Amino acid sequence: MDLELKGQAVLVTGAGSGIGQAIALAFAAEGAAVAVNDLTRERCQETLELLRPTGVPAMAAPFDVTRLDDVRASIGEVHDRFGRLDVLVNNAAIMVNNTPFVESRPEDCEREIAVGLFGAMHCTRSVLQGMIGRTHGRIVNIVSDAARVGQEKEVAYSSAKGGLISFTKSLAREVGRHGVTVNAVSPAATDTPLRREMLGRLEAKLGAEAVAAREEKVRRVYPVRRIGQPNDVADLVTFLASTRARHITGQICSVNGGFAMPG
Ligand SMILES: NC(=O)c1ccc[n+]([C@@H]2O[C@H](COP(=O)([O-])OP(=O)(O)OC[C@H]3O[C@@H](n4cnc5c(N)ncnc54)[C@H](O)[C@@H]3O)[C@@H](O)[C@H]2O)c1
Repeated sequence: MDLELKGQAVLVTGAGSGIGQAIALAFAAEGAAVAVNDLTRERCQETLELLRPTGVPAMAAPFDVTRLDDVRASIGEVHDRFGRLDVLVNNAAIMVNNTPFVESRPEDCEREIAVGLFGAMHCTRSVLQGMIGRTHGRIVNIVSDAARVGQEKEVAYSSAKGGLISFTKSLAREVGRHGVTVNAVSPAATDTPLRREMLGRLEAKLGAEAVAAREEKVRRVYPVRRIGQPNDVADLVTFLASTRARHITGQICSVNGGFAMPG
């Protein structure tokens, strides 16, 4: 199926690793021009190198999504280079630690919400006027099943994602009439550096054997009996960004191997 993304311009936040990197590569495979955002130019580098053989126009857009002035300036540069921005994927997020909320530090909670929720709002704010002006745009927010079904020891992180889910729905109602769709893709456990760091922290606390047993249990909870791979998420993101998904907006779509089946 041709997703008709050839020549479209895409910005993916947090694209230096994991799911964001897979999304950037998936858009390039469809022939789209890709702006790779991450915290620093160095963190964008690996993805840019992976993009090079595809031959699509690609650029680094290094900024911290929580800093609105930097977001605006860098997205301005993306517009200058590509002449437009058709697709924004709000993927950047952090999970500071896995502690019960009662033991968590307020500053860690604030940072998780600042990156996961306000960061997505800042990026969206910076692209939306252009999309409305051209009566075409696609915004895809990466949320988490942790927000859809609740997740212990991830209270602030999942609160950021819960906010992003509400943002997705309400914004979709505002901008649909302007040809802009807003959807969310909700992964469950996916094998990325973020998840491996989380497992590393658990291992330091509980030991390798306990974590291996926990992983086996996790796999058994998934009807498809596997942990997700970044490409599983990227495939749905490119579809939602395509013209094929023109009638889909305000939806929260899980890519979770059947882990949860919210109604
Ligand atoms: N991996 C999972 O199991 C899983 C499950 C559900 C949802 N998700 C979501 O998928 C998305 C990608 O997660 P991942 O597992 O690939 O994580 P990751 O840590 O591998 O990648 C996230 C990237 O975001 C960047 N980043 C962090 N703060 C930033 C900021 N302020 N500004 C710009 N970039 C910033 C990081 O440097 C990193 O490269 C996130 O939204 C995450 O919440 C992941």
